[in-house]
Amino acid sequence: TRVALAFSGGLDTTVCVPLLEEEYGYDEVIGVTVDVGQPESEFEEAEETAEALDLEHYVVDAKAEFADCCLEGVRANATYQGYPLGTALARPVIAKAILEVATEQDCEGVAHGCTGKGNDQLRFEAVWRDSDLEVIAPVRELGLTREWEKEYAAEKGLPVEGGSGGDWSVDTNLWSRSVEGDELEDPNYVPPTEIYDWTDEPTGETEEIEISFEAGYPVAVDGEEYEPVELIESLNDLAGSYGVGRTDVMEDRMLGLKVRENYEHPAATTLLNAHESLEGLVLTQEERQFKQQIDQQWAQKGYEGLVDAPLVSALEGFIAETQKRVTGTVTIRFEGGKARPVARDSEYAAYSAAHASFDTETVGKIDQADATGVAKYHGFQRRLANGVLESKASD
Ligand code: ARG
Ligand code: SIN
Repeated sequence: TRVALAFSGGLDTTVCVPLLEEEYGYDEVIGVTVDVGQPESEFEEAEETAEALDLEHYVVDAKAEFADCCLEGVRANATYQGYPLGTALARPVIAKAILEVATEQDCEGVAHGCTGKGNDQLRFEAVWRDSDLEVIAPVRELGLTREWEKEYAAEKGLPVEGGSGGDWSVDTNLWSRSVEGDELEDPNYVPPTEIYDWTDEPTGETEEIEISFEAGYPVAVDGEEYEPVELIESLNDLAGSYGVGRTDVMEDRMLGLKVRENYEHPAATTLLNAHESLEGLVLTQEERQFKQQIDQQWAQKGYEGLVDAPLVSALEGFIAETQKRVTGTVTIRFEGGKARPVARDSEYAAYSAAHASFDTETVGKIDQADATGVAKYHGFQRRLANGVLESKASD
């Protein structure tokens, strides 16, 4: 019998390999690493570790599918407690790719190395439990701690790198890089600069770029068109060099636990800021207000790893309708670690300079004096209600 393991070559997934044989009785473990834009070094680590373990190893490229998913997040202005959801959006993509390999390779089970404390276990299993395969979570089910894993790895002579550098748990994909664990678990511990890999310390330098959107999707930078993967990668490089997109948050996980998380997401911050700024120009006030609620629900389902829920399709119906007019350009200035929208332009602007200007008296049939009646009524009920309270108080 065979089992497919979500494999990164890190400590957790490496110890899972012998445990799936010893504790779960599988004859063969196959490792699957899904490419959602991790750095080359992670594939090398996975490759080397798999070789040393004599593990049958598959690498599946899901970057394009994942990038599309990130851009849906842009249309939904999606963030959860300040984090643009890289890990969360990647998990269903990874889980689906692993399930496909597992099915092709006649596996009877699928396994992950997530702990019983986090979100990732839920996101993986939501996808896997759509199948009949056995779902196995050795770290959670055997109650493993990192200390135990290190000892076990040493005993077994497993190929894991022993405690060099930071002992953080890092999760990287195109959209964000997350760093947690070890000293960072203390919310009062200031993160050392070496936890950052994508973002430099902001300097005094600035740069402006122009991002073009079509129907809410970013499609070009400074007039040059990009496919989603290349767009995100190049903006991570550029915005990262200006120190854009660091967040340090207390995150409320699905189980209810709070956890201290550090993230880097230069491209995501740049694109989200630009997109929201363009929406500000083209959407009506009532669309913007209502869309905030829609966006928040989208982000919640994204965080839960449930972007294929029927609710999300319904939300995306509304989003798609609004995005028809979200076409135009936004100029972003990288400055002091920020990606600030400094100009925006669209042929769909719901904006009239002539009407809004302080320098014009009358435009068409509307002039300043027309607001007098509105001003008389503004706050009418409040005036009545407060008046009642005042007269009661003086009785
Ligand atoms: N807390 C984040 C999330 O749930 C990221 C978790 C990333 N995992 C990690 N091992 N660093 O989306
Ligand atoms: C884990 O607990 O396995 C990683 C973090 C998470 O899933 O949120």
